Amino acid sequence: MEILNLIIIFITISIKNIYAQNNSNEECIYINKILKKEPSYDCCHYDGITCLNGHVTIIYLFDISYSGSIPIELGNLINLENIYLLGANLIGPIPSELGKLSNLVNLNIQGFNINGPIPNELGSLFKLERLCFLNTNLTGSIPSSLGNLTKLKELKLSNNQLSGVIPSGLGNLLNLKSLEIQENNFSGNIPPELGNLSNLKILEINGNNFNGTIPPELGNLSNLEILYLSRNNLSGSIPKEIKKLNTKLHISNNPLLETESNNNSVLIILFIGVIFLILATGIIISYKKTKKKIIEEEIANRNKNIISFGSKNHPPVCIT
Ligand SMILES: *[C@@H]1O[C@H](CO)[C@@H](O)[C@H](O)[C@H]1NC(C)=O
Ligand SMILES: *[C@@H]1O[C@H](CO)[C@@H](O)[C@H](O)[C@H]1NC(C)=O
Ligand SMILES: *[C@@H]1O[C@H](CO)[C@@H](O)[C@H](O)[C@H]1NC(C)=O
Ligand SMILES: *[C@@H]1O[C@H](CO)[C@@H](O)[C@H](O)[C@H]1NC(C)=O
Ligand SMILES: *[C@@H]1O[C@H](CO)[C@@H](O)[C@H](O)[C@H]1NC(C)=O
Ligand SMILES: *[C@@H]1O[C@H](CO)[C@@H](O)[C@H](O)[C@H]1NC(C)=O
Ligand SMILES: *[C@@H]1O[C@H](CO)[C@@H](O)[C@H](O)[C@H]1NC(C)=O
Ligand SMILES: *[C@@H]1O[C@H](CO)[C@@H](O)[C@H](O)[C@H]1NC(C)=O
Repeated sequence: MEILNLIIIFITISIKNIYAQNNSNEECIYINKILKKEPSYDCCHYDGITCLNGHVTIIYLFDISYSGSIPIELGNLINLENIYLLGANLIGPIPSELGKLSNLVNLNIQGFNINGPIPNELGSLFKLERLCFLNTNLTGSIPSSLGNLTKLKELKLSNNQLSGVIPSGLGNLLNLKSLEIQENNFSGNIPPELGNLSNLKILEINGNNFNGTIPPELGNLSNLEILYLSRNNLSGSIPKEIKKLNTKLHISNNPLLETESNNNSVLIILFIGVIFLILATGIIISYKKTKKKIIEEEIANRNKNIISFGSKNHPPVCIT
């Protein structure tokens, strides 16, 4: 009898202990996966995580060693306002479930091994002000649903493998200050609707496959400070409306574009052409090597900057 009582008491205490260990924040379970902590760990105590009334509001994790995919269950943490997730070993797609995070203001995911498309569902994040997928390996096109994100101030998708045309709906993003989609494989025309983005300061679309003429509507961007159009397949001449802007204009390496220096002399062009052909092989080989190096260095520097800039209460903007 005594022994039975003891056993019952022992079992009761054990169950209590299990419950005591389990009364931690349920929202932490999937974050703990990324943090490599045991499931019962209260992630709100972790330096890069902020909670409010027991709900996770900020994930601010740079340089994490976690290797695996982004847990789709993060889409259930409805109180999330900021996600900064940077890790070389993050693998796989950006979960479409993140489209459920209706309170999200900043979404910044970086990592070479992030691939797949930009989920359509992100077009329902109506509070979003910054959307940054830099130096990832995303493919597919920009979903036209992103044209619904009218609070967006920064859209940064540079250094990916994105393709297709730029949805004209991006011309609806009247709060946009920075549109950076360089070093991808976008094609088609530059939509004239971008001329409606009156707050735009930075437009970087260099290193793509855009063709057609430069729309004169871009001359309406009176706040534009930087315009990078280099390394595309643009043709025609530079509209006078754009020359009037007080903007740093980069247009090199658009072979079909008429610039003043292009008009000088056919002979000079032929001469340069012959020399170029002779050197082409060597240049291409060394260019490929140095470009890779430069991008790697840039990314390394950038990551350093990001790490030294922010704190979880003052998250940095996505630095390009
Ligand atoms: C503790 O939490 C986990 C995850 O929610 C659950 O699977 C488990 O059943 C819980 N254990 C107890 C004793 O409540
Ligand atoms: C990016 O994806 C392509 C396939 O789409 C692959 O060949 C390449 O190695 C990937 N790059 C990196 C850095 O993972
Ligand atoms: C968002 O944009 C898409 C495509 O432009 C459109 O079909 C859809 O109706 C929009 N959704 C909302 C909720 O405004
Ligand atoms: C870029 O897109 C063009 C079509 O617009 C395609 O022919 C080409 O193979 C693509 N290049 C890369 C590197 O994906
Ligand atoms: C945006 O620009 C396009 C083409 O430049 C124009 O037709 C359209 O009316 C503009 N939309 C708004 C809302 O200003
Ligand atoms: C631009 O490229 C597309 C194919 O990507 C082609 O259909 C179109 O005719 C080109 N436009 C110009 C003006 O070269
Ligand atoms: C934008 O620029 C175009 C062409 O340069 C012009 O016709 C149009 O009236 C301008 N729109 C606005 C809203 O300024
Ligand atoms: C650039 O455009 C011209 C004319 O539209 C076309 O013949 C050529 O193939 C294009 N070059 C690239 C790299 O797409």
